[in-house]
Amino acid sequence: MWTTKATTARVDPSERTFDERVCDVLVIGAGGAGMRAAIGAFDKGAKTLIVCKTLLGKAHTVMAEGGIAAALGDVDPEDSWEVHFSDTIVEGQHIGNWHMAEIFAKEAIDRVYELEQYGALFDRTKEGKISQRAFGAHTYRRLCHIGDRTGLELIRTLEDQVVKRGIPFMDEVAITGILKDGKGGRASAALGIDIKSGKLILFRFKAVILATGGFGRIYEVTSNSYESTGDGIALAYKAGAELADMEMIQFHPTGMIYPAGVRGLLVTEGVRGDGGILTNALGERFMSKYDAKRMELSARDVVARAIYSEITAGRGTKNGAVYLDISHKGADYIKQRLPSMYYQFLEFAGVDITKQKMEVAPTVHYQMGGVKVDPESCRTSVNGIYAAGEVASGLHGANRLGGNSLSDILVFGRRAGEAAAAEAAGVGLPEYGKRELDQEITRVLSPFAVKDGANPFHLKEEIAKNMWAHVGIVRNEKDLKAGLEELGRIREEASKVMAVGDRAYNQSWLDSLQVRDMILDCEVVIRSALERKESRGAHTRSDYPGKDDKGLVNIITVERGGKMEHEIVPVPKMPPNLQALIKEE
Ligand code: FUM
Repeated sequence: MWTTKATTARVDPSERTFDERVCDVLVIGAGGAGMRAAIGAFDKGAKTLIVCKTLLGKAHTVMAEGGIAAALGDVDPEDSWEVHFSDTIVEGQHIGNWHMAEIFAKEAIDRVYELEQYGALFDRTKEGKISQRAFGAHTYRRLCHIGDRTGLELIRTLEDQVVKRGIPFMDEVAITGILKDGKGGRASAALGIDIKSGKLILFRFKAVILATGGFGRIYEVTSNSYESTGDGIALAYKAGAELADMEMIQFHPTGMIYPAGVRGLLVTEGVRGDGGILTNALGERFMSKYDAKRMELSARDVVARAIYSEITAGRGTKNGAVYLDISHKGADYIKQRLPSMYYQFLEFAGVDITKQKMEVAPTVHYQMGGVKVDPESCRTSVNGIYAAGEVASGLHGANRLGGNSLSDILVFGRRAGEAAAAEAAGVGLPEYGKRELDQEITRVLSPFAVKDGANPFHLKEEIAKNMWAHVGIVRNEKDLKAGLEELGRIREEASKVMAVGDRAYNQSWLDSLQVRDMILDCEVVIRSALERKESRGAHTRSDYPGKDDKGLVNIITVERGGKMEHEIVPVPKMPPNLQALIKEE
């Protein structure tokens, strides 16, 4: 097994040498998708290696708190994969991939039972079945949960399985670029930085799986952890892979608003699922104006827009929020079902949610768009590259249902791992382009050569402020173009971004590389948002308020000849047997 040894030996900033690691399947990212993919690949006999840029177990997956969606029917026996499929397509506003949704709704059930067999301790009903709670726009109570710490239990359980199998992992390794075989065809290697020592490592593989999560950190207010900087999107795009529907960004309706240090931190939808009520500063239960039937349990895009409208109309609190109240449920119920929320508000904000209302406002939570993948294998448009989880697109369309991400990462993580292992079994170790590697090393070390350049920490802040100001819940052409122009200015500054100091644990170096990738991610989002001239799901255009009746489309982004290009393509047609399952509200 490979081990990672901490080293204090100083690496000269201009040192171009690198260590080499060889595997069949390289998994980049160790959240739920990455770990399930690694288990899938390893169990199929592939020599598998996981790399992740933080510590194993510290993945953003833990922030999916309220539950994992799967139609077990333990609480509502009428539930079925067919209804889950329909909910996923309808709430994705019909631009999700039908085949992914079909595979997902069917296999989510087995993945939950598998997780339980792996050791996850789900909450129980009185009869001893897995407890399932209500969540927005799910027809039935469908979210299997562990209090409000479901993501945490999922990560703990998968980590146990990785360790038990002895699957090698290297944490604190940042991947900077994917290299091809020299003829420009197949992905064959990835350059990485060992964050502890600052040494370069070349990972050679037969197949690579991107499981790098999302990019909430390109926004100022987000529920995402510091690692969620969209590395996988940039890696895929630069390797020539197609991206889809990058304009679709989910604002979770309820994030914390104060104190400043935790602004945006998730307030789980489980609060509303378990009976929480939203009111504005006038005491009105305003959801009746936006979705009188489903009220607080409407789809996320609807609730987020409703809260945004109340606040911008001047009916918010003086902190720029609305109220969320679950105190009527009583202290025992709240502490048992929502223990993290109880402590989070008590410790950070001094609010006792068993007696007091919370103040909440929308926060950037998830990207529905991402790398375009084949529904069955998770293969991307570049040979040898796979993608699973939030970095991949297709399943959630224009709006993800809460809880669908945890089942997504298990279903498609496993599929990606098994498919990558199968491919790896049939190919030899590909060569990598020596010139390409040389160029990548020069690019990676370039921030050390800049003197009196731009500070990457400041640039990250400017990126996040620009996206928050110009690419928010409600967009229009004028704002989007202003956002693009400001991004151009930031990119100009970033061309002189500077790293200072040693290479070991050098955050300024890592950030200076990350800034360039974040700018790329932002550009794809803004240009895709300009291309989609309609309002659909999470993408609301004040200048195009209705849905485009010309037909359902996906917006594809790809690099051709050094230029960012977009194609507007029709959504694949659903076969009649699945069409018959679709039930619109
Ligand atoms: O609200 C939540 O607990 C988040 C869940 C999710 O995004 O799936």
